[in-house]
Amino acid sequence: MLPIIGELRPWADPRITQINRMPMHATIRRERRMSLDGEWSFDLFSHPDEIDSAVLSELRASKKIVVPGNWTMQDTGDLPHYTNIQMPFAGSPPDLPDQIATGVYRRIFIVNDDWRQSQTVLCVGGAESVHAVYLNGEFVGYGTDSRLPSEYDISKFLMTGENILAIVVLRYSAMSYIEDQDQWWMAGLHRGVFIESRKVVCIADIVCKADFDSKKKLGELTVDAEISFFGEPKPGFNVRSSLFSPEGKAIGKAQLAKVPHIADQPYLFVGHRTKISWNVDNCAAWSAEAPNLYQVETQLVGPSGEVIETIRQRVGFRRVEVRDRQLLVNGQPIWIFGVNRHDHDPDNGSTVSIEDMRRDLEVMRSHNIIAIRGAHYPNDSTFYDLCDELGMYVVDEANIEGHAFNTSICDDDRYLSAFIERGARMVQRDRNHPSIILWSLGNETGYGANHDALAGWIRRTDSSRPLHYEGAIFHGDKNQISKSNWVAGGLHASDIVCPMYVPIDAIKKYGDDGFGTRPLIMCEYSHAMGNSNGSLADYWQVIGNTPGLQGGFIWEFKDHGLRQKLTGGRTRLAVGGDFGDQPNDRSFVADGLVSSECEPHPAMHEVAWVYRPITSELKKVKGQPKILVTNRQSFIGTEKYFAHFELLIDGVVTESGSLPKWNLAARSSRLFSLPCRIVAPSKSEVHLNIFWRLKRDSWFASRNHCVAWDQLELKRKPKAVFNAAKRRNAEHFNGVSEFEKLLVSPVELFLWRAPIDNDGYKLMPELFDKQGTGSKAMQTWRDLGLESQNAENLVKHVFSREVRDDGREIDFFHDVVVPKSLDDIPRVGVRFSLGDEFDKIRWFGRGPFENYPDRNSGSILGEWTAKPDSPPYLVPQEFGLRTDMRWVEFASSKSKKVIRIEILQPSSLHFSATNFSAHDLFAAENQCDLKPRQELIVHLDVAHRGLGTASCGPDVLEKYRIKSGTFSFCYRVTVR
Ligand code: GAL
Ligand code: MG
Repeated sequence: MLPIIGELRPWADPRITQINRMPMHATIRRERRMSLDGEWSFDLFSHPDEIDSAVLSELRASKKIVVPGNWTMQDTGDLPHYTNIQMPFAGSPPDLPDQIATGVYRRIFIVNDDWRQSQTVLCVGGAESVHAVYLNGEFVGYGTDSRLPSEYDISKFLMTGENILAIVVLRYSAMSYIEDQDQWWMAGLHRGVFIESRKVVCIADIVCKADFDSKKKLGELTVDAEISFFGEPKPGFNVRSSLFSPEGKAIGKAQLAKVPHIADQPYLFVGHRTKISWNVDNCAAWSAEAPNLYQVETQLVGPSGEVIETIRQRVGFRRVEVRDRQLLVNGQPIWIFGVNRHDHDPDNGSTVSIEDMRRDLEVMRSHNIIAIRGAHYPNDSTFYDLCDELGMYVVDEANIEGHAFNTSICDDDRYLSAFIERGARMVQRDRNHPSIILWSLGNETGYGANHDALAGWIRRTDSSRPLHYEGAIFHGDKNQISKSNWVAGGLHASDIVCPMYVPIDAIKKYGDDGFGTRPLIMCEYSHAMGNSNGSLADYWQVIGNTPGLQGGFIWEFKDHGLRQKLTGGRTRLAVGGDFGDQPNDRSFVADGLVSSECEPHPAMHEVAWVYRPITSELKKVKGQPKILVTNRQSFIGTEKYFAHFELLIDGVVTESGSLPKWNLAARSSRLFSLPCRIVAPSKSEVHLNIFWRLKRDSWFASRNHCVAWDQLELKRKPKAVFNAAKRRNAEHFNGVSEFEKLLVSPVELFLWRAPIDNDGYKLMPELFDKQGTGSKAMQTWRDLGLESQNAENLVKHVFSREVRDDGREIDFFHDVVVPKSLDDIPRVGVRFSLGDEFDKIRWFGRGPFENYPDRNSGSILGEWTAKPDSPPYLVPQEFGLRTDMRWVEFASSKSKKVIRIEILQPSSLHFSATNFSAHDLFAAENQCDLKPRQELIVHLDVAHRGLGTASCGPDVLEKYRIKSGTFSFCYRVTVR
């Protein structure tokens, strides 16, 4: 039994949020800090009751374990468990399972005598789910909230020399019910642990409020310091504050404020707090585009004028407000080019290093992502330091998700203090970070009194940031049901209309209606599960042109695959259930724009395009083509970039050059003339590509990196006048053509694709009913026999071929009649395969990366070369398409033979060429199960269903679906 708390069982009582934990404060780095990260002794028990108190001061252990880390990732036998909405165990709040894995961490640290002359504080950076601390066998304290640090005063237990520290961590607790985020359940000390020595009199907290008046260019800063006395408070202390510009120059003179003493005027005593104000004329404001940081130096000065300690904080002057249905930063609306981000690493689970965070940010910004919703909990404070410094807008979200008990826990007063404390502590720790522009009350916990209580506390404490909470605008106010929740629901708890996964029509209507006071920013949209993110450009077409809409956060940045060793030395990236975890939600956790290892999936290219800072469009002015260039940035001009163009005639660059050195002010547009004359044969198509690139190396990319591009269609190809009917009467060649000699499998009609997650969840078909998300398409196609039957039996197909030039040239003609009963099939096209020595692909079409009919706006039409793609998705599914292909060539690296396919009718087809068949992809559960065939499998599609985002959200838009009717297409194949 655990000493002191064993009987009390705080972990089972949601009302007990802490015992002896010190108050939260801004992150302060003190001089004297000792990291306790590294190897600890570790034992795992099946319940806290099983722990013998002797273990707490015993170093011998069954295992060594690394801190920070999840014990579920360190061969302890207790494994990760993935669930989305449902809890990993049965019961209702606050019931707990009979067994609760409980880890006991121990280590020694050594301090010399002078640590004992003042206060020593232990900081536990993050423990999942709750923890208790013992020092030298004595109970120190207990803490909850696995995503914020907990601090304890250990002074009275500290000994000179060796100390044995034990931290007991319970994997599940009553708090698990409000930590039910859609991610792996892990366990352990997943963030760092350290001790710190505080001076007998010290600065306990600093609150910097840095406001910016954009009209006057005036920065106003207040620095509130809180002084703490270890022992009896004494008079005579002062706080001195100095302010430095981003260049390090002192601004004005240092200011002094007296630390009040309670004896002075007890009735008016506000605590040992001082307030110092600064005005900065001509202030360099902070924004994500121009992250100017000033520095505040705060010194504690003793009675005889001696400096006791000096603390530095970075501040960014900026103002965030909601006005006229707009979210404004420094008076300007900003675009939320956003993603949701979890802490994730395939080897370390939820333990991420500063390098991991930095890499996430680099990959984000090099794809024009400038806003992050911290889904769904506060990160380590280092993360916000990086965002302040590099320039990212952040929604900081309280660690509150009660998804499994969505509509009850929010009104359950046993959880009231936990709600308030989680939000309040987040604000207290993070409020000095300029990057944080919104406070979020959590995620998917309905909307109840507990939220309103927290909202009230935050509004009173930090009125400088608007509130964000999706539940408030979804569930609304119970007494306001007559009004739309987007317009008037939950006004107390959310200043933003922040819905998730809503259709384009709905946001357009909200914007156009013009009701209410709040801007609409989707907290989640475009679910990136597998081959997804269809219609991103359609979303942005509407967002960019509708008042009241400002963007959103794509769900989500990274897949959560976990590296798992398999027998035979193989490894795989595991998803739910792969560890024997029951119940689970399988691969619903693999839904990122980048892989678990931070490799961008093809959709990132489209993300970079829709989020580009500069757009170029073609406009006709008095009949003349002009280019309308728009700087979508809110604060900076285009001076960091240079622009150049390429003129393409039939996909070939015929002219290129740089564009004049324009500097386009923030949020402005200008019309420009075409940079070159266009002379092209009448049958040709003409495109103008415009690229914007970095002039210099930046933190996220090196110089020349392309930040924005557009392709303008100057002249469309005249419609194919190819008369297929006439050719069909031509005489047929009886031999085998050169092309057919090279075929490993023949040209055959193909109507099916290996379902993408948006077509249906192949690993968890039951989710459709259980969760109410997903599409039935996969099942429908199966019922129709698309997957199992020869396509010839399903549709009418008239097929002929015509061979010429001694078998070196062959034309294929196809007429496919898709009946009404087969409306909305995945594709209409043909498939054939070649030997895998055909490994070089050259084409004129959209590229260079994979693209689909509803995810190809950022894919440029041009001539591209590539090797066959490797399957990019953790759960194998359709991949690798290139749309609008005019011609394609497959070259053999062995025989040097080149097969060229030219599309005769219509003017283009979609194609893919990979080493994997649709059936191979569908049969495999995990990327690691796929083996490339010794074949190049080629699809030519006259129609291919869009991708949509139905795995969580709207299905493919009507215009990207395949309707019944006749599809005629023909192409010419030559071999040389
Ligand atoms: C949302 C939720 C996210 C995630 C997503 C689906 O409902 O907020 O945490 O579960 O759906 O991937
Ligand atoms: Mg959820």
